Amino acid sequence: MRIAVVGSGYVGLVTGACFADLGHEVVLVDNDEKKLEALRTGKVPIHERFLPELLERHGGGRIKFSGDLQAATRASEAIFIAVGTPPTESGDADMSYVESVAREISGAVESYKVVVEKSTVPVYTNQWIQTIIMRNGTEPEMFDIASNPEFLREGTAVTDFLYPDRIVVGVETERAAEVMRQIYGPLTSGWYYGRADAIPRPDRAQAPPRLIITSAKSAELIKHASNAFLAMKISFINAVASICETVGANVQQVCDGLGTDSRIGPRFLNPGIGYGGSCFPKDLTAFRAVAKESGYDFRLLEEVIRINEEQRHRFLRKVRSVLWTLRGKKLGVLGLAFKGGTDDTRESPALLLVQELLHEGCRVCAYDPAAMERAKEELGSGIEFATDAYEAAKGADAVLILTEWEEFATLDLERLRGAVKYPIVLDGRNLYDPAVMTEHGFSYYSVGRPPALREETHAARASAHNGRP
Ligand SMILES: NC(=O)c1ccc[n+]([C@@H]2O[C@H](COP(=O)([O-])OP(=O)(O)OC[C@H]3O[C@@H](n4cnc5c(N)ncnc54)[C@H](O)[C@@H]3O)[C@@H](O)[C@H]2O)c1
Repeated sequence: MRIAVVGSGYVGLVTGACFADLGHEVVLVDNDEKKLEALRTGKVPIHERFLPELLERHGGGRIKFSGDLQAATRASEAIFIAVGTPPTESGDADMSYVESVAREISGAVESYKVVVEKSTVPVYTNQWIQTIIMRNGTEPEMFDIASNPEFLREGTAVTDFLYPDRIVVGVETERAAEVMRQIYGPLTSGWYYGRADAIPRPDRAQAPPRLIITSAKSAELIKHASNAFLAMKISFINAVASICETVGANVQQVCDGLGTDSRIGPRFLNPGIGYGGSCFPKDLTAFRAVAKESGYDFRLLEEVIRINEEQRHRFLRKVRSVLWTLRGKKLGVLGLAFKGGTDDTRESPALLLVQELLHEGCRVCAYDPAAMERAKEELGSGIEFATDAYEAAKGADAVLILTEWEEFATLDLERLRGAVKYPIVLDGRNLYDPAVMTEHGFSYYSVGRPPALREETHAARASAHNGRP
């Protein structure tokens, strides 16, 4: 199939690269000339595992880059819209990028096309896209709209795309359904998984995936409901973690007992400093706005958002209760990305925390394996950056773990102990066994678990509970 993907960001670039690997001819379109130039010269603008390999495999062959959406539309049977849908001031999704793409597509529909919404959009967007395309002169029989929400996670985006739990396609005509079946055929038939050069299968993947065909509205709702549910799971366990902290229980043990119930499942029960990123925060507010517009007051979502924000403030209070005053204290910060495996810092709880710590007068030396460039743009000059975790920890009054990078879960603890001024670790991601940390001479504070204190005074032990010295 000849496919255009509009928007070469985290979703568009991965989608285009994966479609090429499935054998399709892909034009990746963007209106950011700098990004296109970088892509044309072989640079990969985002940190994503397997993406460089795929772009190298197909760049200049099955993948082309273009700034000309109309030419790409003419040359393609399906046009995937993967541009941003950021939040507006009032919380609903800003659909102006999607609308401008729909308008431009309209001028170039010379044969039948399927226009696919890949961006996360509110219900009814398919109807709006259809209206805009027709309003600009295209006959209704010349195109169909499909909704094909994307469930990939940054950090594992390529394998998520190629080994999805399911593929959701919302359509109103059989003709559009058939085009979508053909596009995903290499996955749903299992053909791709038999290939010697296929991207390796991740542990839990069940291939081939099921293709779920729904109405366009249902598909739009599936995406918003999925993200809202996952965010709810995170906030739920964070609320439980807060109770664990006050009663002296261990949230990890609670998670074990809770997650082994097959109706609940263990995934997304990770207590920490809360969710962030470019999806959950904006999709929750957008879904709440959609619900409100349809006459339903979805207050559960407000509570999910409130718990998430409170989680960050709670961690900050913990830092204060351990270090007493913050002004002038040196903190080694491990992690700036909103989660491990990505360079994305949008709505990163780590970055928001660092901003608050800087505001309180702390000296911060941070390290992140991939997100420092982006963090520099957002944080400016008030922060130092290190070349590795040990340099960040050098001379620190405390080390803060804010992102769950694998390399932060496997630190050389002896080396870390040798680097810091005081052996205090505040772990916002629960990466370590508290007993192991005390064995290595650290006082260790995590989320929802009793603090593990190295042999200090009884007074210090009490301070962790009541905030007094
Ligand atoms: N990032 C994720 O993990 C993820 C996962 C699933 C769904 N989504 C959804 O996918 C959509 C895209 O997200 P993203 O993270 O890839 O965004 P992004 O900001 O990384 O990329 C968007 C791209 O679209 C381009 N663009 C904007 N307007 C354009 C136009 N008129 N013509 C051509 N290009 C244009 C931008 O230059 C940019 O490169 C959003 O709706 C998001 O909610 C994101």
